[in-house]
Amino acid sequence: MLQVHNHNELSAQVHEWKRQGLTIAFVPTMGNLHEGHLSLLRLGREQADKLVSSIFVNPLQFAPHEDLDNYPRTLEQDCKALMEHDCDLVYLPTDRDLYPQGLQQTTTVHVPDITEDFEGRFRPGHLDGVSTIVLKLFNLVQPNVAVFGKKDYQQWRMIEKMVQDLNLPIDVIAGETVRDPDGLAMSSRNQFLSVTERKTANQLQSLLVQAREKIRNGEVSAESICQQAAQQLQRRGFEVDYFDFCNRDTLAPLQGKSPAVLLAAARLGNTRLIDNIEVD
Ligand code: PAF
Repeated sequence: MLQVHNHNELSAQVHEWKRQGLTIAFVPTMGNLHEGHLSLLRLGREQADKLVSSIFVNPLQFAPHEDLDNYPRTLEQDCKALMEHDCDLVYLPTDRDLYPQGLQQTTTVHVPDITEDFEGRFRPGHLDGVSTIVLKLFNLVQPNVAVFGKKDYQQWRMIEKMVQDLNLPIDVIAGETVRDPDGLAMSSRNQFLSVTERKTANQLQSLLVQAREKIRNGEVSAESICQQAAQQLQRRGFEVDYFDFCNRDTLAPLQGKSPAVLLAAARLGNTRLIDNIEVD
């Protein structure tokens, strides 16, 4: 596996593969790889001749009070996992390689509408940081296919929209959320949960599943089902940012009977958890 630290080297390799007529699948990450990432790598591996990944804890997507400095970094272990998953190249840029003028001076990308609510409301600037870095990485890697996890549902849908709006010749595909046996969605941040918090953490998914069943049965309005679920989470010690449902493709308020998704984000102690479930 090639390990590349600067964008000129990356572009040269990509250019060479393109010259040979080879296709590229791309799985961007922030490292600290767990089974969720590995499932995306396996999906990527099936899609193209070359599999490229990146490990970059992107400072532009963290607000000043967030956990940029504490974000888990496990480079050696990650590179081993990438090699085991037959990754051809990993891009390991420095901040300077991607933001040579500094963060304040860089051009950013804003994807409208789909980013206004949910993470956009509770983490201002976060999604712009993600769209900006992803577009930069797409420009460098020039993938035919890019793979994102459904766990970050809004992120995935936002990138789909960006690719469509900007006519990027990339197929965005999504991998299913990978869960611990008790249902908790895998996330690099789960390791920050205390033992007691970890025991409660799977309630987020349980309540999403229960809410989906109640919506399917049409018992009461979806709004009140979501409100009740949020209250139950609060009683169990979560601080809820949102527990809501919306149109699955646009994340706009649901109109009529279009396919929906329930999205939830809540904090347990210092750890913020997000999860979702699609509702047919
Ligand atoms: O989902 C992530 O790990 C990050 O948001 C991404 C897509 C790698 C961009 O930094």
